[in-house]
Amino acid sequence: MLNSSKVVGLPLPRIDGPLKVTGRAPYAAEHFAPGMLQGYALCSTIATGRIAEIDTSEAERMPGVVKIYTHENRPKAARRDEKWKDEVAVPGHPLRPLENDRILYDGQPVALVVAESFEAARDAAALIRVRYEAGEPHTDLFREQANSYVPPVLRAKDMAPPSPRGNAEAAFAQAPHQISAEYSIEGEYHNPIELFGTTAIPAEDGSLMIHDKSQGSQNSHDTICKIFGLNPDKVTVRNSFVGGAFGSGLRPKHQLFFAVMAALDLKRPVKVEMSRSEMFYLTWRPSCIQTVSLAADEQGRLQSVMHHALEATSRYEDYQENVVNWSGLAYKCDNVTMSYEIAKLDVSTPGDMRAPGAATGITALEAAMDELAYEVGMDPLELRVINFVHRDQNQDKEITSKALHACYREGAARFGWSERSHEPRSMREGNELIGWGVATGIWEAQMSPAEARVSLSAEGKVVVSAAASDIGTGTYTILGQLAAETLGVALSEVAVEIGDSRLPTTSVEGGSWTAASSGTAVQVAGRMIIATLLKHARKMDNSPFAKATEDQVELSDGRLVLEANHQLGVAVSDIMGEAGLTVIEEHAKVEPDKAIQKKYSAYTHSVVFVEVRVDEELGQVRVTRVVDAVAAGRILNPKTARSQVLGGVVMGIGMALEEEGMVDHRTGRIMNHNIAEYHVPVHADIEDIEVIFVDEDDDKASPIGVKGLGEIGILGVAAAVSNAIFHATGSRIRSFPITIDKIL
Ligand code: MOS
Repeated sequence: MLNSSKVVGLPLPRIDGPLKVTGRAPYAAEHFAPGMLQGYALCSTIATGRIAEIDTSEAERMPGVVKIYTHENRPKAARRDEKWKDEVAVPGHPLRPLENDRILYDGQPVALVVAESFEAARDAAALIRVRYEAGEPHTDLFREQANSYVPPVLRAKDMAPPSPRGNAEAAFAQAPHQISAEYSIEGEYHNPIELFGTTAIPAEDGSLMIHDKSQGSQNSHDTICKIFGLNPDKVTVRNSFVGGAFGSGLRPKHQLFFAVMAALDLKRPVKVEMSRSEMFYLTWRPSCIQTVSLAADEQGRLQSVMHHALEATSRYEDYQENVVNWSGLAYKCDNVTMSYEIAKLDVSTPGDMRAPGAATGITALEAAMDELAYEVGMDPLELRVINFVHRDQNQDKEITSKALHACYREGAARFGWSERSHEPRSMREGNELIGWGVATGIWEAQMSPAEARVSLSAEGKVVVSAAASDIGTGTYTILGQLAAETLGVALSEVAVEIGDSRLPTTSVEGGSWTAASSGTAVQVAGRMIIATLLKHARKMDNSPFAKATEDQVELSDGRLVLEANHQLGVAVSDIMGEAGLTVIEEHAKVEPDKAIQKKYSAYTHSVVFVEVRVDEELGQVRVTRVVDAVAAGRILNPKTARSQVLGGVVMGIGMALEEEGMVDHRTGRIMNHNIAEYHVPVHADIEDIEVIFVDEDDDKASPIGVKGLGEIGILGVAAAVSNAIFHATGSRIRSFPITIDKIL
């Protein structure tokens, strides 16, 4: 019998899809209120120094201008760093817009113009005269290598590289096969479709409604309340719909501060939306210089792994991420040293960007593995297969599951890897050199504490509520599916409300943990509803449930039934009617199981196969085929899951070939702060991408068997592309992105 409620695991379209494609899913800057003002930020044109003089008199005379804020007249805000630290802040002193005359990076906001129209605000900003005293900028990571340091305060306890194991130097020296190389990656800038924007709407009663582009409404809420000393109960932050984020929206951005500052000061609704070029002055994936040394025995077994990374951070904060630790757990190896340092530059604080750290570190590791394969004279896939390890050697723990062999096998079969000829430049078609490359991907399968409220009405209507965000990942849909299945109703009967700080507590949507965390909370709340129904059903006359326990019953098509015999059941409406209830509502609170965490590590895994075709005369690279085989535990929705991996692969292709922040180190200014000159893959750059999810049962990574998918798609992609370019052309290019000039 077709059961309409068995919807987990089906490739269902997003339930918010029709709203998004018909323009009824407003982003933060698409909300309006009567009398709303527009704010426009003026950004610094130096990278370091101070504002000697700022003259706003001419700008103030522009018709429509209401007020101009600079460091000389900025309203009061918190002074202590702690008040400015958000849920995912990094160590250091968070930037406080317009706090003083100091300039710490190119594009730092130096004034906010608030006007009756966007045009008036923007034009007035152009009339502000700023006299700077510029210092000498230090923005070149290569030149600042001498000033590197180990982050003194860690952002998370697993950020530090594990202590060395074995003796990597000695093992390296003795091994018959060695490679050692330096890899560099330029900074990458976040460019989601939705720009950062905030609409702040004060009400007569002193309450404040804020629509903010964010990956966590409660993070924005709590931070802005601390900064302005606001009563948290009077402030609501919503992020109902988010036009992409990938990490850029984890920390609140200065437009939130500006919109709220002006709304409170002027007692009018205020909107501040950044321009596309301002996106380049915000968070970015830090530039990185890495050295990887690998050694293997005659059979290709790894004898030594040494990985060092140096990343950029800002003057004011110690941004840090896990770049090198992956090299200690990707493959079996007993002699490992990993180190990680950062160096201060006159730049804005870097931030998380899809698979932060891993995307950078695994690019170097997996490119180095390819170099080792050629040094040993071995197929690059085979080298990975023989170094497989089913244990977390970094933490000396078991791992919950690792269906990576299935990824290798199924991915290779689908790609046709066995047809590959080993020698570089050995495959061609006409003018095109063809190259095939492979790389492995790893990401943590994490769960964060999460709460959810679920209600079921006598008519079978379900409402799911949580502060969770949907940054384009499909959160609405998968939470709806889990509720529908748990409560035995069709997905169309479920309403999902998320993206609102008043709803049950949820951390930012990041780290690929939302499905595992909020999904578990929804399922637990659903099971609590079943328990309540059972309690009432037991009291009914001739109840078939008199002796039934909670785990023997389930909801199916509007009836509470015995799992073992669906014939025996009672309609939910009858149970509620008898109990005098119209709705049952439960609130669940879940967190990761500490006992499991103590014993196990959990990771998602993938393998990426890439075909490139390189025009021999023009050096132009096309990525003509990608097969990404992923082991991510249970897949709740193959359609939204596939979309996430596709997006990750596209970002990986951008990392490999196009995305390149260019800074003029003489001025410290970003030169290509627009998407005409900062290239990202467009449709014409993307050809055939196939995503495979291999079967992987895991009851420990999270209670619902989910490992998370937001990050895994980008991992390994840039390395696989570079390895394919080597296979096609015979030249090893170790600086990313691999642009045409480097190939020719
Ligand atoms: Mo992800 S970079 O944690 O949004």
